[in-house]
Amino acid sequence: MKTKTLIIGAGGQIGKIVVDLLQEDKKPVVALVRNENKAQELVKLGVETVLADLEGGFEHAFKDCNKVVFTAGSGGSTGYDKTLLIDLWAARKAVDYAIKNNIQHFVMVSGLGAANPDEFVSDIKPYLVAKHFADNYLLDSGLNYTILRPGALINQQGTGLIRISRPANFNELIIPREDVAKVIEYCLANEDTKGNIYELFSGNEHIDSVFKMDA
Ligand SMILES: NC(=O)c1ccc[n+]([C@@H]2O[C@H](COP(=O)([O-])OP(=O)(O)OC[C@H]3O[C@@H](n4cnc5c(N)ncnc54)[C@H](OP(=O)(O)O)[C@@H]3O)[C@@H](O)[C@H]2O)c1
Repeated sequence: MKTKTLIIGAGGQIGKIVVDLLQEDKKPVVALVRNENKAQELVKLGVETVLADLEGGFEHAFKDCNKVVFTAGSGGSTGYDKTLLIDLWAARKAVDYAIKNNIQHFVMVSGLGAANPDEFVSDIKPYLVAKHFADNYLLDSGLNYTILRPGALINQQGTGLIRISRPANFNELIIPREDVAKVIEYCLANEDTKGNIYELFSGNEHIDSVFKMDA
C-alpha cells in the first residue's frame, strides 16, 4: 500500500518546513529536490529524497506515494521562461503524474490573485496567469485537490493563527511561510479539506477551528 507524501519543492522555504513537520510526526515523506547539496542535507536528516529537475521528467518520484504537495516555484529572480516552465508546466506535469499514479490527495500551493489575475494591478501578473491555469488544470483533473492561495509570504515565525476570509486592509494580505506549512500538514491529515480552494492570511483563529468552522 502506498502511504508516502511527495513534497515537490522540498528544498524551498515552505517545502522544508513541511518536510520537518511530517518527519516530526513520523509521517512517511519523499522530498523532491533538484540540488545535490540540499538532497544530501535531507538524506543526513533521514529523509527519503529524490533528485530531479522539474524541467525534465519526474514521474519516478510518485512511485510509493498516495499524497502530493506542489510547493515548487520559479521564484522572483528568474524570467518568464521559468514562470512558464515551473509554475505552469511542471505543475501540470505533476497533475498528470498524479493521475497516472492514483494519488489520493493533491495539495497545490498557489497564490492570492490566481483566481483572477486581472484583480490586482501587479507586476507579477504573468506569474498569476501561470498559477491560474495550473490551478484550473488540477480542478479539471478529477483528482482530490486542495488549492491554497496564500497572500504575500513572510519569514516571521508562525503563530498557528490564520484566517481564510480576505482582510479589507491590503497590508494584512500576508502570512508567515511557517503557517502555510502548518496548513498544508493540516490539509494532508483532514479529508474534509479536499475539493476546496482557500485563501490564507494571518489571523486570530487556530488552524483546526478555522477549517472546522468552514466545513
Ligand atoms: N513569494 C510569495 O509571496 C508567494 C505568495 C503566494 C504563493 N507563493 C508560492 O508559494 C510556493 C512556495 O514558496 P517558497 O517561498 O517556499 O518558495 P521557494 O523557497 O522559492 O521554493 C521553491 C522551490 O522550487 C524549487 N524549484 C524551482 N525550479 C525547480 C526545478 N526546475 N526543479 C526542481 N525544483 C525547482 C526550488 O529549488 P532550489 O531550492 O533548487 O532553487 C525551491 O526549492 C511557490 O509555489 C510560490 O509561487 C509565493
